[in-house]
Amino acid sequence: MSETPEQAAEALKRGALILLPTETVYGLGADASDPRAVAAIFEAKGRPRFNPLIAHVADAAAAEAVGVFDARARRLADAFWPGPLTLVTPVRDARRVCDLARAGLDSVALRVPGHAKARAVLSAFGGPVVAPSANRSGRPSPTTFQDAVEETGFAAAAAVDGGPCAVGLESTVVSVLDGRVALLRPGAVTRAEVEALAGPLDDSGEGHRSPGRLTLHYAPDAPVRIEVGGARDGEILLGFGPGVGDPRWSLSPTGDLREAAANLFRLLRDADRTRPAGIAVAPIPRDGLGEAINDRLRRAAGHIG
Ligand code: TXA
Ligand code: MG
Repeated sequence: MSETPEQAAEALKRGALILLPTETVYGLGADASDPRAVAAIFEAKGRPRFNPLIAHVADAAAAEAVGVFDARARRLADAFWPGPLTLVTPVRDARRVCDLARAGLDSVALRVPGHAKARAVLSAFGGPVVAPSANRSGRPSPTTFQDAVEETGFAAAAAVDGGPCAVGLESTVVSVLDGRVALLRPGAVTRAEVEALAGPLDDSGEGHRSPGRLTLHYAPDAPVRIEVGGARDGEILLGFGPGVGDPRWSLSPTGDLREAAANLFRLLRDADRTRPAGIAVAPIPRDGLGEAINDRLRRAAGHIG
């Protein structure tokens, strides 16, 4: 069973939660201006309340009604929206994205998703929709409709089936605050792509860290070992590139980073369902999209930060 984008928009207007497909991962969505609906998201996910949510809007004009964009934020929005980039800017209109959704911060995270059904929900609803990844807190983000339903479908009044997520990793989060541009979470839009438009990034880590990056994340139940040459007894090996492990469990048999990103969370979940002694993952190159893949893997393995 799944609902149409219009039915999902109606559910949002009633203050209910929805499962929202995006090109990155599935989200659990609510009306960003409604503190009761937003509270229901934190409850369903078991998410700590100090961790703010991303507000999804239909276009850049709607984003600029909520946040304050300087020239560099606007350049990034022009280049990558709609798409897998989230911009953290000073908040302009705090009512549209309530305090609870922003975890009380005076900044706001904004994204214009590229998925056609997400955009249909947003235009039918007509306001910002906060949507964290639809996993229960600490678990891998769902990248298929079935996985999203299994994680938090119990809390959603409407669930929109958008098929498998093309990107498979959460959006790149970039803050543009006080004239400084910082990469808070690597994703499909790479560090090099952001720097090409916004100049060198501020890597001091001071000022604006992403609160959600401090906790254990993306972890399946089985222990995860990364950058390994082979599996131990009872482990499943997630390979990368030709001839590494069983092709059925390969992130990308040809060694393609986009394919590996799209497969990562689904394969972690599928491997976990077989209740292995552990999940071993072959080395993944660190350049480009590899930064985001290695970031998620380090966190899944419990190497935080
Ligand atoms: O791809 C995505 O971004 C997905 C889809 C559904 O859009 N959403 C997602 O949301 O990954 P979530 O809540 O799982 O991750 C949001 C991240 C967290 O790391 C949070 O701490 C950070 O964005 N964030 C949100 N507001 C922020 C703010 N004002 N300052 C710094 N970080 C913020
Ligand atoms: Mg998440």
